Amino acid sequence: MPVLVVVGAQWGDEGKGKIIDLLTERADIVARYQGGHNAGHTVVVGANEFILHLVPSGILHKGKTCIIGNGVVVDPAALLEEMDAMAKRGVKFDGHLLISKNAHLIMPYHKALDIASEKLKGTKKIGTTGRGIGPAYADKINRKGIRMADLLDPEVFREKLACNTGEANFLLERFYDAPQVHLDQVYEEYMAYAKRLKKYITDTTLFLDESVGKKKKILAEGAQGTHLDVDHGTYPFVTSSSPTAGGACTGLGIGPNTITEVVGIVKAYTTRVGSGPFPTELEDKTGELLRARGKEYGATTGRPRRCGWADTLIIRHAVRVNGMTSVAITKLDVLDTLDELKICVGYKYKGKLYEEMPSELSVLEKGTPQYITMPGWKEATVGIKKYDNLPKKARAYVEKLCKLCGVKPSIISTGARRDETIILEQPFKKTAVSRSR
Ligand code: GDP
Ligand code: IMO
Ligand code: MG
Repeated sequence: MPVLVVVGAQWGDEGKGKIIDLLTERADIVARYQGGHNAGHTVVVGANEFILHLVPSGILHKGKTCIIGNGVVVDPAALLEEMDAMAKRGVKFDGHLLISKNAHLIMPYHKALDIASEKLKGTKKIGTTGRGIGPAYADKINRKGIRMADLLDPEVFREKLACNTGEANFLLERFYDAPQVHLDQVYEEYMAYAKRLKKYITDTTLFLDESVGKKKKILAEGAQGTHLDVDHGTYPFVTSSSPTAGGACTGLGIGPNTITEVVGIVKAYTTRVGSGPFPTELEDKTGELLRARGKEYGATTGRPRRCGWADTLIIRHAVRVNGMTSVAITKLDVLDTLDELKICVGYKYKGKLYEEMPSELSVLEKGTPQYITMPGWKEATVGIKKYDNLPKKARAYVEKLCKLCGVKPSIISTGARRDETIILEQPFKKTAVSRSR
């Protein structure tokens, strides 16, 4: 009954989609445990590129079950749009997709409140994706969210909707000076979504429990990254959920003892979208080169991603709070042309040297990163499949990075495609602690 959790080690967009798609081959079930359509996971299969937002990245493999867990927030319009677009490209959902009846719905007023709140914050904005993620999770924690199961009961749905739109409209109109949402219109719209989604909505925790019992291999798919985690990230410049590995337990309803492996996805350099501290950010030609070579533009919003050097404080913190058993280093090939590479090993702030991730934003914002320098390999690594075929200096970079972060690499990615990968250690090797029943 192994459960392998895939989690981003930095600020998202590490290449989780590619690695999840790759690992799906050895899995039976792929289950998304948090986030919503703020995520953008790119999977390249041959000449075809798919960008997945809500649908688990395992859907491109035939015969696998994909689950949208209770920890996910679902905008049904966005989900159906994504499914329709994929169905046109031959992807099948019936019998393959299950949606938790406890997953919360993103409503039009969540999106309106997200956008209005960001507007009001002005220069202090978080730089959200504007998808209504924060307000939807706020309603969930505030115990007034509307769940998938409510969608199937028109009376309950109408009652909750009336209550919530009343409050949201008051805020939208009186506080934010923004347009209101219309109760009847939203009701009709969501009832139409209910008709189409009904067949997928179920108790996914039961399904997962049975699957664990049958020793099925489960891949738990995290969205975003450790430093966007509401507890462990650079708060308040974070998302509103728990991308870290513990989120897989609450977001899917599985026990911690079912988790056998936690694979952290580490981009060989660092990127971030939206506001917030980024100590190793490069606002120069090297930053531009990383953006151009790495095609670092948001898969969801198209925004240019901020780029910088690898940061061992950021990664080590992620290794620790997720209990990573290994890491997949992605986008090594993007660094191929650089003369030299820097790795951050500390921050200096007001005369003090920080060697572990500080929680004070001031240190991250104003501290001076301390670097070690490694020589570039100046050779193409694109598509290399064997570790020994990597240039010596590229191996030295990977080994140094992993040593400094206290973690071993299990996968190295040398291109966007499935086969452009070095597998050092096969996933799903370990078996879980046995259950008492
Ligand atoms: P995710 O959100 O973590 O799934 O990552 P994204 O899909 O948003 O961004 C990662 C981008 O890098 C995508 O365009 C991938 O196709 C691409 N990618 C993934 N791995 C590699 C790699 O090893 N090399 C290169 N050049 N591109 C990669
Ligand atoms: P994947 O899964 C990168 C960022 C936003 C913003 C902050 C809060 O593709 O790695 P939100 O809309 O979630 O309230 O925005 O989080 N963000 C991401 N950045 N990759 C993502 O997902 C992200 N999802 C949210 O840019 O800074
Ligand atoms: Mg992404």
